[in-house]
Amino acid sequence: MNINIETFNNWAKENKDKSMERGHASSVDQMFKILKDETPALESSFSFIDIGCGNGWVIRKILENKNCYYALGIDGAKHMINKATRYKTGDFIQSDIESFNFEKKFDIVFSMETLYYLKNIDNFIDKLYNTAINKKGSLIIGVDHYKENTSTLNWDKEYNLKTNTLSIKEWYEKLSKYPFSSIKKYQYGRKENWEGTLILYAQK
Ligand SMILES: C[S@@+](CC[C@H](N)C(=O)[O-])C[C@H]1O[C@@H](n2cnc3c(N)ncnc32)[C@H](O)[C@@H]1O
Repeated sequence: MNINIETFNNWAKENKDKSMERGHASSVDQMFKILKDETPALESSFSFIDIGCGNGWVIRKILENKNCYYALGIDGAKHMINKATRYKTGDFIQSDIESFNFEKKFDIVFSMETLYYLKNIDNFIDKLYNTAINKKGSLIIGVDHYKENTSTLNWDKEYNLKTNTLSIKEWYEKLSKYPFSSIKKYQYGRKENWEGTLILYAQK
């Protein structure tokens, strides 16, 4: 049993996935803007994967770009995936992402508000680098829960979750272990009592 997947499965049943989608929309717009600015990938045919896709809204959004020839979303929560597949656009797989084996590589590997739920982030990033990101491909990760964003540090208790809390430096170092050609970090949407979404972008 994975407590995080169980909690988000209940969120989907209670239709809280929609408020999460609204809450994450501006940070995801910013992540798309970074992709547009940093990589020419969006200008020609590309594939895309969303890790921890929730109800699949980012998959539907990226498929509005006619250059996206394939988009796959993965999430462990059955009710999130049930919602995602109702739209009949994009491919979706219900799986725990830590045990998921990537059978093909993607030009853009995307993840919003998911990777800090993993038990072993190092193993997962290793798997991403070696088996999920295409040559010259991009990885873009957004996280709101990190050490410096102190108003998020009570989420485990508040929402019945088990998080893996890293600092900005620790996130950056996790990517720096790999020979990406470029790694960038941003804090988007900072305001009082909120350090913003930490966005990490890396290109092979
Ligand atoms: C905060 S939600 C974000 C969902 C979506 N990215 C969004 O922005 O709306 C985190 C998602 O990660 C999924 N998740 C967490 N841990 C997971 C795991 N080990 N395997 C698969 N999915 C997981 C949850 O089911 C949930 O849908």
